Amino acid sequence: MSTDKIAELLTSFQAEIAKATPKTLEAVRTKYLGRKSELNIILKSLSTLSVAEKKTVGAASNKAKVEMERVILAKENDLNRVVDEEKIDITAPGKEYPVGHTHPVTQVLDEMIEIFTSLGYEVADGPEVEDDWHNFEALNMGPEHPARDMQDTFYLTDGNLPRTHTSSVQIRYMENHKPPIKIISVGKVHRNENEDATHSWIFHQIEGLVVGEGVTFADLKGTLDLVAKKILGPDTKTRFRPSFFPYTEPSAEMDASCPQCKGEGCRSCGGSGWLELLGSGMVHPDVLRKMNIDPEKYSGFAFGLGVERIAMIRHNIPDVRYFWHPDTRFLEQF
Ligand code: FA5
Repeated sequence: MSTDKIAELLTSFQAEIAKATPKTLEAVRTKYLGRKSELNIILKSLSTLSVAEKKTVGAASNKAKVEMERVILAKENDLNRVVDEEKIDITAPGKEYPVGHTHPVTQVLDEMIEIFTSLGYEVADGPEVEDDWHNFEALNMGPEHPARDMQDTFYLTDGNLPRTHTSSVQIRYMENHKPPIKIISVGKVHRNENEDATHSWIFHQIEGLVVGEGVTFADLKGTLDLVAKKILGPDTKTRFRPSFFPYTEPSAEMDASCPQCKGEGCRSCGGSGWLELLGSGMVHPDVLRKMNIDPEKYSGFAFGLGVERIAMIRHNIPDVRYFWHPDTRFLEQF
């Protein structure tokens, strides 16, 4: 018997213990230190050896046994520590994940829908890709009408178009409903125009249409003034400027006093104290006639409002293009 065998045992033990898992550790211990282990057999047979061998082999095998026991203990501690670390502490507080929120434009849309539905309006829907009739012709804009240039239009190859305004929904609704009518419609519109701080080629509008007996311009003003106060604050003032839309007569644009400077004039409102919010007017009798609604009996008002503009006014956002920008740091502010 030589000490080489013991050295060999120690080497293979080290290799196996390095790979040991909590499940295999006991088997390694038994294999190298158990009753039937080679080391134990050597230890038991020491008495049969010569005195000289007893000395060397005895010392080496005892040393190996002590070493193996030490290594196993260390490994055991090591494995227990790993298991502890991997244990799931079900009493620990949960991890917080960032929660998103609605886009500032969606926030205004949602609020507007709530305001109008609380006033008894129904929400109507219409397609984003329109035909010429609903977007233009039924709204008194025939093929050669110069007012078509008020909204530069993208055309699709089949002659249809991404709608330039939500006024197309007025027509769709009146085609299928008789007065009394009280609707809003919400959605995206597209215009082939150059972008700048206040003009985007895609934006959202809210269209409103009220048709009934005895509906007057005073109803239009009262409704829109109330909505402006609800959305921009109770101190908001409104003013109506004469305007032109082929499908309303008379027509007016409504401005709201700038909430940043309260009408004093600041950078946000270009020093004027006022911000343009919407186009509006009394539904043109010819439009009603086309919809088989008798203009002698019924009258109505309509309006179209820019949603991004409202979100800009509310949050003092200087440029409409931010809304479409992929930088989430912008959105996180709202
Ligand atoms: C219209 O689109 C009319 N259809 C509104 C209307 C409806 C009038 C019913 C009468 C009756 P206008 O082009 O002015 O009008 O647009 C309405 C609002 O949309 C504007 O007041 C403005 O707030 C917003 N807006 C217009 N162009 C842009 C644009 N390029 N980018 C962002 N917002 C815009």
